[in-house]
Amino acid sequence: MDAPARTARRLTEPKLVVASHNKGKIFEIRMLVAPFGIETVSAGELGLPEPEETATTFEGNATLKSLASATASGLPALADDSGLVVPAIGGDPGIYSARWAGESKDFGLAMRKVEDALQAVGATTPDQRRAFFVAVLSLAWPDGHVEEFRGEVHGTLIWPPRGDMGFGYDPMFLPDGHDRTFGEMSGEEKHGLGAATGPLSHRARAFELFARECLEG
Ligand code: IMP
Repeated sequence: MDAPARTARRLTEPKLVVASHNKGKIFEIRMLVAPFGIETVSAGELGLPEPEETATTFEGNATLKSLASATASGLPALADDSGLVVPAIGGDPGIYSARWAGESKDFGLAMRKVEDALQAVGATTPDQRRAFFVAVLSLAWPDGHVEEFRGEVHGTLIWPPRGDMGFGYDPMFLPDGHDRTFGEMSGEEKHGLGAATGPLSHRARAFELFARECLEG
């Protein structure tokens, strides 16, 4: 017999900490939460420290961040851990996607490193240049309860990068079924907000699950 489906805890508090210090992510998470009328404050605005990401999975790092903010602030906190996974190069940069950009957060350099690694293994055809973005959203409460949601979007990596919208690795990522990179799409398009085909970005897909389980109804 199947185990009964687990019911997620609902978010009933009117204020939520966005447990991130990354401006691009804070902006995107705020955009996704806004329609639900929830007030947000970022970890940076509250002066909360940025915990070191010592876990070895997206889930582990997301929860490390959400729990740190929830316990320090006394408010529920939502964190996102995300990255680009490229199977041809052993899953890199994966959970180290931010670190590949170095201290100066230079994503031109990070994209170049991915391209160099692909060239080093002779990955030249679209089939060999498959990649996916992962986003795990973790919602933690001050009492230690946690809910996690994972979203993925699959595509191919192109070179040279195209477009100057979005952030991070967006300009080299061509999502399946589209002829423009994430770097050439507006935020609405990248997330697929209101699109008949449903959410597009990894973050919007994780967010849809989060909203369905914790916010709606
Ligand atoms: P972290 O989740 O703070 O460890 O950082 C994840 C890193 O993955 C970001 O700094 C970006 O480099 C990359 N990344 C995550 N989501 C996206 C996205 O939507 N577009 C482009 N790059 C992303």
